[in-house]
Amino acid sequence: MFLNRISYVLQAIGIKGIFRTIQYGFYRDRIEKQKGNTATQELHVPPVPPGKFTESELIPGGIQLSFENAQTEVIVLSDNIIRISWTPGKAPVPYTIKKNDWEVHDLRVEEADRSYILSINHYQVTVDTTGEISIWKNNGTEMKRDNVPVRKGTSWSLSTNLSPDEHIYGLGERSGPFNLRPGIYKSWNTDAGGSYSEGDDPLYIGTPIYLSLSSRGSYLVYFENPYQSVFKVQDKFQATFMGGMLRYYVILGSLETIYTQLCELIGYPNMAPRWVFGYHQSRWGYKSEAEIIDLVRKFKEFNLPLSAIHLDIDYMDGFRVFSINRKNFPKMKKLAEDLDTKGIKLVATINPAVKYDETYHVFRDGNSKHVFCTDQSGELFTGVSWPGWSVFPDFTNVETRKWWQNQYSALLNEGISGIWHDMNEPASFAAWGDKSLPINLQHSMDGTEGDHLEAHNLYGLLMNQAGYEGIKTITPNKRPWIFSRAGWAGLQRYAWNWTGDIESSWEALKLTVPMILGLSLSGHFFSGVDIGGFSGNPSAELYLRWFQLSSFLPLFRTHSAVGTKQREPWVFGEPTTSILRKFLQLRYKLIPYFYSLAWEASHRGIPAIRPIFWEYPQDKTLWDVPDEFLVGSSLLIAPIVDQSSQNRSVIFPPGSWYSLWDDREYQGISSYEIPTDMESIPIFIKSGSIIPMEENNELTLHIYSMEEGMTKSYLYFDDGDGYGPWRLETFNSTFSKNHVEISWDKSGEYQFPYSALNIHMHGRNPLKILIDNKEFIVTDNIVQSPIFQNIRY
Ligand code: GLC
Repeated sequence: MFLNRISYVLQAIGIKGIFRTIQYGFYRDRIEKQKGNTATQELHVPPVPPGKFTESELIPGGIQLSFENAQTEVIVLSDNIIRISWTPGKAPVPYTIKKNDWEVHDLRVEEADRSYILSINHYQVTVDTTGEISIWKNNGTEMKRDNVPVRKGTSWSLSTNLSPDEHIYGLGERSGPFNLRPGIYKSWNTDAGGSYSEGDDPLYIGTPIYLSLSSRGSYLVYFENPYQSVFKVQDKFQATFMGGMLRYYVILGSLETIYTQLCELIGYPNMAPRWVFGYHQSRWGYKSEAEIIDLVRKFKEFNLPLSAIHLDIDYMDGFRVFSINRKNFPKMKKLAEDLDTKGIKLVATINPAVKYDETYHVFRDGNSKHVFCTDQSGELFTGVSWPGWSVFPDFTNVETRKWWQNQYSALLNEGISGIWHDMNEPASFAAWGDKSLPINLQHSMDGTEGDHLEAHNLYGLLMNQAGYEGIKTITPNKRPWIFSRAGWAGLQRYAWNWTGDIESSWEALKLTVPMILGLSLSGHFFSGVDIGGFSGNPSAELYLRWFQLSSFLPLFRTHSAVGTKQREPWVFGEPTTSILRKFLQLRYKLIPYFYSLAWEASHRGIPAIRPIFWEYPQDKTLWDVPDEFLVGSSLLIAPIVDQSSQNRSVIFPPGSWYSLWDDREYQGISSYEIPTDMESIPIFIKSGSIIPMEENNELTLHIYSMEEGMTKSYLYFDDGDGYGPWRLETFNSTFSKNHVEISWDKSGEYQFPYSALNIHMHGRNPLKILIDNKEFIVTDNIVQSPIFQNIRY
């Protein structure tokens, strides 16, 4: 691994680049000394508790309590959201908050013995005059108890009691076990520097959102504090922030309610264009038009579907962002147009670092408009990135965001359809120490003035906001699609993400499911991973297993580092290519299902990728399953993550589940040993589901019977891009011992897009079916059907 690393660094930045990283280390350390490193100094000052209670005051939606050294404010935003704030400390700039006009109807506040009780529909909040705050269900169950927080210098620290069986999930991107307890995690978005493996922390997206699950129920916490922070998840959950006021939101309820409320608070994900749900081929680097044309030809030759090709930094002119290397890409626009006719889009990478180069218009223009970060004495700051010495836009300044927005036309005018935001932690190569910007750089923080300690974690988020808004303004009839390496709470509003430079190993493959689930439970519903791992070379088997898993992730992309061996889907030869083709075809058949989940996420706030406890959070046996996941409510995926695996055990949530491959039924809640082969991975469909699959412009509704019960399934269509008409199909199914009945409710104006409809019945073998009261003969459980109102069999 170490040799790999050296060779990667040399190929990536060369000897000169290595030299610059040393210079940068000295330069960064010098800047950080300009005004001491407050963050480390504060660890040595004594802690200050809030002190004695002095007075209370009722305020709209809640109560405020004053203490000798601090003040707390508890506000009920909705029946499910409570906001708690402790001052002193700078208020967060509300970059992440989408909704402010909350209205609570039935809030009652009573004074009790040395405490105040706020009661809402299902919960009570007790605010003690000691400063302790606890949240209760109306039935008397204590859900959460926060101890009196303490302040050290400008940092706040809060500890929350955890019950013995309490599980903690989320906190953004973590390369550890799914349940984060026990563990210590830092929130400081960090470039892994070309490779990471299990346990490396922090990584690129350190979102301070976690879900708690215990026999008491579930709640979610969002700390609205972007400062560098540390979370110790042990007997207690202890959160420490290096600055700012201590503000957090507690969201309670069922998992569905929690995530809908979270999206109400910090925004729903935007709907991506439909092409994004296909397969993406990437590599650092495809260097020329000729190479791309050849790549597309090979995909065709091998009969492998493809939706996007990603251009890594080599398409740029000397790694200058928003430029194109005309020698290698002389006719980028024509290339993009030609690919478009084949249904393939181009996606281009963009870094925040702008080359320090007086002859380069982006640098000159930005510099004259003062959009780049400066140190404390107002000097332009330079860090090191792909183009060498570079400057960094201060995205915390609305004027910078507006300036940056306009730059995207340089790529959009060339026919680029999707944007890949990289290195936006932000990363600056350093031979030692933190691989980012000095913590005391100046930032506008939209007029509130701050330093990098406050701005750092928001940097990627705000770059994405600028990009999203820019693309939306430049091409108003299309939906922007960005995916980003760094982010924070609220990233989902602007961008998807991927898990960065994971190493190529079986251990790393095992991390995929817990990482994607952790991201999903942190509000980042649309993620993916470099198939095969970024650094290093996977064997055919490892690549295949990673590919099979990724066929069920929102972002389905192969990518790898410079210097790695080629790994396009034909490279490993047969039988691998045929198996990969089978999974590609399955993914493409399932696009209507994925697209409907994207609609559900963007309208209802429900993640597409869910842990298997999603519908049964009270069932403890489902809490610690790091190698299975649900896609929507109907598909259970149990990927193979072990080398030479012959079988694997699968635990099923309640209900009965059908194997996708042979319709064999399994009963939850129990575990089964499932034999495996190279050809497939265990995939199951929940009884009662209707899975839509498309092929050759025909839609097939796969109806998976259940014994008894009623279900609803949704199917969403539109033009695949833009903001035109849509249609939403709702299938209401009733299953009884002798019959299955399905009625189809249609809404929206978009034309039904398929030339034929088939119904495929699983779990029962009817010979006849009534479609709108007309009898049809069923052959092999399949029948061709008109668009119906009602079917019965
Ligand atoms: C970073 C990215 C990686 C990309 C490389 C070159 O390491 O994480 O995906 O290929 O930069 O742009």
